[in-house]
Amino acid sequence: MILFAFIIVFFTLPHILESCSCVELRSDTDGYCTTDWISKVKIVSKETDGLGLMMSYRLEHLDVIKSPENVTLPELMNTATQESACGQTKFKVGKEYILAGSSASNDSLLITFCNWRVPLKYIDETKLELKKPEWKAFVDSVKTCPQRPVPVE
Ligand SMILES: *[C@@H]1O[C@H](CO)[C@@H](O)[C@H](O)[C@H]1NC(C)=O
Ligand SMILES: *[C@@H]1O[C@H](CO)[C@@H](O)[C@H](O)[C@H]1NC(C)=O
Repeated sequence: MILFAFIIVFFTLPHILESCSCVELRSDTDGYCTTDWISKVKIVSKETDGLGLMMSYRLEHLDVIKSPENVTLPELMNTATQESACGQTKFKVGKEYILAGSSASNDSLLITFCNWRVPLKYIDETKLELKKPEWKAFVDSVKTCPQRPVPVE
């Protein structure tokens, strides 16, 4: 029995230690403001890099909902391959999603499990479209997001 318990602890502990942990978003406003980009996309292809650490998705942007000033959202979106590194590897080729991420440049997008997701109350799920009036009311209620420090390259 003791041995059995030991084995259970042994096998479950690494998962606990390695699991993805996210900074808690206190509100939808908080989530929206920490989100750099939101876009309705179609996944065109996905592939893993030579080391198996990063996965790249190629996207088609069907409807860009939010993007940083002066940035044209690129077709390349990266994520970690490991769920413990908060990777989002389950998106399927050929499917459409409304995605949001924390980092956007002209060259690539990054998505992690910690990124905010547009709450379902703003999405017409059958058409995978934003419910325009509800979404506009929400965005208007956010007004201006607090300034975030510009990341140093
Ligand atoms: C965006 O481009 C305009 C015009 O070039 C510039 O004035 C503005 O500072 C840029 N904004 C950012 C966030 O880089
Ligand atoms: C992104 O590309 C556009 C168009 O080429 C350019 O005007 C803009 O300055 C670029 N933005 C950044 C952040 O490099």
